[in-house]
Amino acid sequence: MQQPDPAALSLEDKASLLAGGDFWSTRPLDEAGVPAVVLTDGPHGIRRQRADADHLGFHASEPATCFPPAVAVGSSWDSELAAKVGELVGREARALGVGVVLGPGVNIKRSPLCGRNFEYYSEDPLLSGVLGAAFVRALQSQGVGATVKHFAANNQETGRMRVSSDVDERTLREIYLPAFERIVTEARPAAVMAAYNRVNGVPASENHWLLTEVLREEWGFEGVVVSDWGAVGDRVAALAAGLDLQMPGPDAANDAAIVRAVREGVLDEAVVDASARRVLGLTGLVGNSAETAVPAEHHALARELAADCVVLLKNDNAALPLAEHSRVAVIGEFATVPAFQGDGSSRINATRVDTPLEALRELGGTVTYAAGFASDGTLDPEESREEAVRVAREADTAVVFVGLRGETEGTDREHLELPAEQRELVRAVATVAPRTVVVLTTGGVVSLEEWHDDADAIVAGWLLGQAGGGALADVLSGAVNPSGHLAESVPLRLEDTPSYLTFPGEAGHVRYGEGVMVGYRHYESVGRAVRYPFGHGLSYTTFRTDNLSVDVTGDDSATVRVTVTNTGDRAGKHVVQVYVATTAGPVRRPARELRAFTKVALRPGESRTVELPLERRAFSYYDIEQGRWTVASGAYTVQVGENASRVVAEQSVTLAGDADGTVLSLDSSLGEWLAHPVAGPLLQQALDAGATEEQRQQSEANSGLIHMVASIPARQFLHFPGMSLSIDDLARILETTTR
Ligand code: GLC
Repeated sequence: MQQPDPAALSLEDKASLLAGGDFWSTRPLDEAGVPAVVLTDGPHGIRRQRADADHLGFHASEPATCFPPAVAVGSSWDSELAAKVGELVGREARALGVGVVLGPGVNIKRSPLCGRNFEYYSEDPLLSGVLGAAFVRALQSQGVGATVKHFAANNQETGRMRVSSDVDERTLREIYLPAFERIVTEARPAAVMAAYNRVNGVPASENHWLLTEVLREEWGFEGVVVSDWGAVGDRVAALAAGLDLQMPGPDAANDAAIVRAVREGVLDEAVVDASARRVLGLTGLVGNSAETAVPAEHHALARELAADCVVLLKNDNAALPLAEHSRVAVIGEFATVPAFQGDGSSRINATRVDTPLEALRELGGTVTYAAGFASDGTLDPEESREEAVRVAREADTAVVFVGLRGETEGTDREHLELPAEQRELVRAVATVAPRTVVVLTTGGVVSLEEWHDDADAIVAGWLLGQAGGGALADVLSGAVNPSGHLAESVPLRLEDTPSYLTFPGEAGHVRYGEGVMVGYRHYESVGRAVRYPFGHGLSYTTFRTDNLSVDVTGDDSATVRVTVTNTGDRAGKHVVQVYVATTAGPVRRPARELRAFTKVALRPGESRTVELPLERRAFSYYDIEQGRWTVASGAYTVQVGENASRVVAEQSVTLAGDADGTVLSLDSSLGEWLAHPVAGPLLQQALDAGATEEQRQQSEANSGLIHMVASIPARQFLHFPGMSLSIDDLARILETTTR
């Protein structure tokens, strides 16, 4: 479809293109043959509203498949699974006439209290970025645009439309931007959604550093920057910062403000043309006009995908898989009224919903049920618990389904606890049941402490989408061997979490005081125990990892090879996790960081050697003084972990790293000058030449002297009493370093 050249349009028409034509669509230009493009949520299904529209999931939407939300997909550690979800969501988008899907959400899980963690993948930027990129590529392969969101540092819901995320640049670069960077540079999404919040005081929608300097100039993004719904404050400032499309629309007042700003010379018309051109570029993504119902077979696919997201946290006394023909007591209202998605803009009108109880009964065997509690208070607590205990006593295994109600966009959680009646129910059941299995159906991590030791087995089912009930039955029965791994640490206490003292902030600011030490980066660096570490996940089979080899392939890269063997008696999938540990460089590094991973399916006895590249970024830190990613020369230990806490194999290598590109200046410290390979010797020579005999004797007598003055900026050092060097002397030495 040939798009009109914005230069051929009137300024008024161009300005009108830069806001939605309605709540969910871009503005059509009929006379120019420009159709409207529908943008809608996402991420784990299509929320297509035809009549009343809202951005919080209140009003009705068309039936669509609710696939596993990101909290589940993140736990799969499987980019092929993430891609499959993207492909199926893309198919349903076309069926429902949607051109751009508002997803994936890739914000980092800075605190387990963030109410929207169910919509995000992980506490780790590599895992988030790899899965998000796979989703975007697959979605867009269906001829539908993706919108990676919420750019950036939108890690809480409290005060989200005004709060300033105060984050130092190294932390932004190493933790909160990399998932967006990977997706933008590798998967080239049609759009990026600017977040509601401020970043270091400047609204994300008006943040030139974020939207233009980083996103476009550094990462080469050529798509559309769209606002979050209702996020735009100053439209002209947003446009100048790089925000192309204000949603929702229309907004005649802001259109007029843009026209006025151009007419008054405040805004260059070329900026309007460029944004209009990018918005017009979406028109090639118009959804399929021949709209159809979503394919029924997607439900079965959703069940397969969900099963590989389930994490087996604990499995003592061979509690799982459930023994065939055993008597199973299913307990808990979440077995009949499942939690399978969160509330808010991602809430899908599911085509159907599996319940764990029905799915377990369909698998056969003796299955009894007791609600045990009612979240809406309609059951007598004593009677319902006594009923549950009676049912549990008569079974071989009690499976207690617990979870959270009301996890939603717009609100953060205040603690990690499950409701008291659920915690008490687990303990009461475990007192009488021969074996007790607890199934968690939550959008984020919860505390397991009050009943952890009472349970023989614990399954983290997360929110698995509409087919989650069937998926859980498949895992509990052993039809599927669980292969999920934690994408977020499970702490012992909320107080142990690195953001505890600063989340969710105060007086309009949230200080990211923990810096890069987010999640496992914190726990492993300070040696803080957790209940279950990032990367943890059990299987019904066993695996062995050996034959690790690490070959250096350059000054800043290496290749890892490791062999994984299925040492058990049934097929299973294993996640190879490669971390890098180092103290190289002038900054504090986390104890280890995830730098590569892959999931392998192995038959009993089968071995597979996997080869994983560690490119430059796997060894880098972001140097804020040099304004670039830097690989420091030194020792790097490549570690294969069962999880972030348990290393099963490691090998150290030495990397030359970057030539010392330290750019000296008069503000560099004396120590930096003396350490510089070129300037150092010249400066030492000049100092020696200008020193008196007494000064030379003092210096020899007090070798510690240089350490005391090493941090003084060279410019100030010149003014020390007795100093014979001049600023011209330093300037001459500087010149030698730039030749
Ligand atoms: C919401 C969300 C965003 C969503 C948009 C449209 O407030 O923050 O993720 O895509 O509005 O519903």
